[in-house]
Amino acid sequence: MVATVLSGIDPNRIPRHVATVMDGNGRWAEQRGLRRTDGHAAGEDALFDTVEGAIDLGIGWFTVYAFSTENWRRPPDEVRYLMGFNKGILERHAEDLHARGVRIRFAGRRDWRVPRGVLRRMDWAADLTRGNTGMTLTIAFNYGGRAEIVDAVRALVREGVKPDRIDERSIRRHLYQPDVPDPDLMIRTSGEFRISNFLLWELAYSEIVFTDVLWPDFRRAHLVDAVREYQARDRRFGGVPSSG
Ligand code: FPP
Repeated sequence: MVATVLSGIDPNRIPRHVATVMDGNGRWAEQRGLRRTDGHAAGEDALFDTVEGAIDLGIGWFTVYAFSTENWRRPPDEVRYLMGFNKGILERHAEDLHARGVRIRFAGRRDWRVPRGVLRRMDWAADLTRGNTGMTLTIAFNYGGRAEIVDAVRALVREGVKPDRIDERSIRRHLYQPDVPDPDLMIRTSGEFRISNFLLWELAYSEIVFTDVLWPDFRRAHLVDAVREYQARDRRFGGVPSSG
């Protein structure tokens, strides 16, 4: 990445985990008289430019919200498109990501609504890249933050854990990715100021950057801007300001 883009970035305070809500594809398309699905298609370049930027910055974990447990409420044509689109994204990019040492993972429910061919492609991408030690790219797919907490509590009950033994650590251990650090930074594009059921547990102390940029226009330089904003924040985790 060119030095000017990275100016003002402290290489010693790169967020370990960045999570992104890729929002605004539909509005981007509508502004151009295109179909909403064309907006999603345009979001593919944004996603992979940003992933490249995240690798170059040295971000260890990068999580993207690709489909929520609520997105089944979208028009059936759009849902069908998104299923095929997400499968296609893996077909088009998994091998490149593998060559770059990226480990691909998925977070979400594997329920009957996800077509079998999509699940197969997800398993293939995860298996292909399982041993990689570079950045971990988690695709939140059929993911809901509340569903994740429900699933964790169900697992604890199923194990017969006594109520008094249920605490933050035991719930944490039963989340979809217990080994992944909580996001330091969450980015949401398109000028919406919501979490929309994304990583509810994990975002407890994340810094959040909202940008007006619509997802198809988002590029690695915007990621760098968000990291710069993150580095200017004072994280307190409930304590007192670090300056005193
Ligand atoms: C949350 O907003 C946003 C998401 C779950 C992201 C959805 C993203 C896509 C469908 C496109 C994925 C694009 C690529 C390039 C893989 P919401 O719309 O679910 O919630 P809201 O109604 O609160 O805004």
